[in-house]
Amino acid sequence: MSGTELELITEAFKSNWVAPLGPHVDAFERELASYVGVKGAAALSSGTAAIHLALRLLDVGPGDVVFCSTLTFIASANPILYQGAKPVFIDSEPTSWNMSPAALERAFIDAQKTGTMPKGVVIVDIYGQSADMAPLLSICNRYGVPVIEDAAESLGATYQGKPSGTLGGIGVYSFNGNKIITTAGGGMLVSNNPEALEKVRFWSTQSRDPARHYQHSEVGYNYRLSNVLAAIGRGQLRVLEERVKARRAIFERYAEAFSNTDGFDFMPEAPFGTSTRWLTTLTVSPERCGLTAAQLLDVLSVQHIEARPVWKPLHLQPLFNGYNYYPHDLNNSVSDSLFERGLCLPSGSSLTEGEQNRVIECIKTALRFPYRGR
Ligand SMILES: Cc1ncc(COP(=O)(O)O)c(C=O)c1O
Repeated sequence: MSGTELELITEAFKSNWVAPLGPHVDAFERELASYVGVKGAAALSSGTAAIHLALRLLDVGPGDVVFCSTLTFIASANPILYQGAKPVFIDSEPTSWNMSPAALERAFIDAQKTGTMPKGVVIVDIYGQSADMAPLLSICNRYGVPVIEDAAESLGATYQGKPSGTLGGIGVYSFNGNKIITTAGGGMLVSNNPEALEKVRFWSTQSRDPARHYQHSEVGYNYRLSNVLAAIGRGQLRVLEERVKARRAIFERYAEAFSNTDGFDFMPEAPFGTSTRWLTTLTVSPERCGLTAAQLLDVLSVQHIEARPVWKPLHLQPLFNGYNYYPHDLNNSVSDSLFERGLCLPSGSSLTEGEQNRVIECIKTALRFPYRGR
């Protein structure tokens, strides 16, 4: 927290606008929309809720197909199942670790042949970096299929100068506790279509029809963000740019510390945009550095340092057994190898230099003595 959140929460308490809704919700929506340069935003209880309602906007229903990035957190695809639809997973490309245009194109060619065109494509901007949206959007536009941009991990990043989350027709952000800014829990759906946003607000408040009595003609959800959490979000938004700078500085220190370490390859920053470096991630090649990513995780864990593997691709998840998957090229699944070799290092905006040095030293010691380190 930056400090101003408490003032804003106090304001919410004093005015007795705690829940549901209230002036902070409206202001948070306006401020976020203006920050990323879209016409409007709907504040929701989570990023997952935002993806769910985005799918409803695309009229995704039972039996429909939705294409989705495979290298992501499960929340990108769970809502596809909520709607009774079928996900088809698309691999990453090596430049940004995000959706591969080549794999997407092949998925569309097959879908056209088999008459199973998707109702939408969920393109994820992973680990603070935008996907290569221009070629991806051009493919989707050619097939006339709308895009949901899941920028839950990438608020503050840009693609060709434009904010991540604003390139697809519908954008999604998350303010979950681990995100670059947080409301404890929360999400936002952004769009340039005011009617779509009205519909999202309607569904997220139990689809209450405009009548004095409680009348409902459509399924709805309790998905709105509370006024107190929106107050936190407003305070956090003010320090978003500082947070991005802090995360990028953390990345720079790791990259500098391991610049001569053979076998450590940091997630590249693709030339088409600016990454927030939400998490510092790298791949570890044991044949060059003597340790696997899993062994390094163990070494760090023994020292009470919490690091994480890279997301296990969704096409490898037991939940999604049996759904189709399109690798980057026929003999090369990029996401499988990122999962096998990937490592996310401690990257919190408040990580001190001393704490970061401890992480670096711990890894360097393990690399010097690979057998003792295990
Ligand atoms: C890529 C991605 N999509 C969606 C979500 C879901 O957001 P939330 O946790 O706010 O539901 C997350 C994170 O949690 C995420 O990392």
